[in-house]
Amino acid sequence: MLLQRDVMLRVAIIGATGVVGQEFIVALDKHPWFEVGAVAASERSAGKRYIDALRDSSTGILKWHQRTPVPDYAKEMVVKSVNEIDAKDYNLVFTAVETDDARVIEPKLAEHTPVISTAAAFRYEQDVPILIPGINDDHAELLEVQREKRGWRGFIAPLPNCTTTGLAITLKPIQDEFGIERVIMTSLQAVSGAGRSPGVAALDIFDNIIPFIPKEEEKVQVEARKILGRFMDGRIDDARFRVSCTCTRVPVIDGHTESVFVETSRTCEPEDVKQAMLKYSSNVSIKNLPSAPEDYIIVHDDPSRPQPRLDRDVNDGMSTIVGRIRKDTAFEQGVKYVLLSHNEKMGSAKGAVLLAEMLKVRELL
Ligand SMILES: NC(=O)c1ccc[n+]([C@@H]2O[C@H](COP(=O)([O-])OP(=O)(O)OC[C@H]3O[C@@H](n4cnc5c(N)ncnc54)[C@H](OP(=O)(O)O)[C@@H]3O)[C@@H](O)[C@H]2O)c1
Repeated sequence: MLLQRDVMLRVAIIGATGVVGQEFIVALDKHPWFEVGAVAASERSAGKRYIDALRDSSTGILKWHQRTPVPDYAKEMVVKSVNEIDAKDYNLVFTAVETDDARVIEPKLAEHTPVISTAAAFRYEQDVPILIPGINDDHAELLEVQREKRGWRGFIAPLPNCTTTGLAITLKPIQDEFGIERVIMTSLQAVSGAGRSPGVAALDIFDNIIPFIPKEEEKVQVEARKILGRFMDGRIDDARFRVSCTCTRVPVIDGHTESVFVETSRTCEPEDVKQAMLKYSSNVSIKNLPSAPEDYIIVHDDPSRPQPRLDRDVNDGMSTIVGRIRKDTAFEQGVKYVLLSHNEKMGSAKGAVLLAEMLKVRELL
């Protein structure tokens, strides 16, 4: 599976100084297939060494939010502005910028080279798939349609919103085995999912739950149906089931918890759903890729799991953890369960690197 060093792909990271950009820096450290050829950020950081761009010049505070130190390879790299990045010099660009910036930056890069994006800017366009490696790999074929339609050498491949990721991953085995009619989900989302600029103020979230995250519910409702839709005749036919969400912010640092109710098309027992998830996990398409977790889905029998503090870092945050699978009592047939997904690992940069690995194997990079 490992590629030779002489076929290493050269990648650039745009937004490399931000929360998600830093995750990219860590996820690509000593990566066997990708080497970071450039890091870029706003004009504020351009021209500085990466380590200096992270440092607040008045206080000396290093704005590095990862648990591991800044990797050596990145420290001395000089941060570029986006205008200094010639996309033709790279095999792939990862972007981690806000949606308004992404809308301008990503198409210019995609004219020449593939772009994997963590932003929402292009997720809802008809020729753009929302990819979760292991769930809807076949939708990657839409990237060829996009290329042709837009006359680009590259493409834009966005990740889903980090709250959609765990939901879609757990719904997929249920959809395959029993069919889905309706999904009701309430999320308890970590503060890191709001980023740091402006993020969530400590004074607002301590001792509190915020029952509203702007635009989040609409995103998850649309994205889950697109991801679990069928790719046919050069387009995605969204899944027909209905999704209803309530998204809340809770005082947890990392890891989104979701309480999910699923009405299935065919009768199923909780044990059947557990077995379907475990079977899916052990046969998942991406299991041998460098960033793939050992277990794609983990199912707990202990009714006190999953818990963010205990479970989010399992397999470096790349597993989706499920527990409390039980029979639903409101729907005629169906189940309810709780899931946990790491919003900053599988839900963002490391998930994007896993996506790049999947696209590489499918010869789209
Ligand atoms: N936080 C999460 O858990 C999460 C999860 C999934 C997806 N996302 C998405 O990922 C994206 C990045 O989020 P984040 O939390 O990492 O944001 P962030 O911490 O605010 O970082 C933004 C990055 O973009 C750079 N930047 C700003 N304006 C730019 C411009 N005009 N040209 C080039 N670079 C520019 C910043 O550079 P400077 O440092 O120089 O200002 C910084 O590197 C967002 O679209 C977000 O929705 C976030």
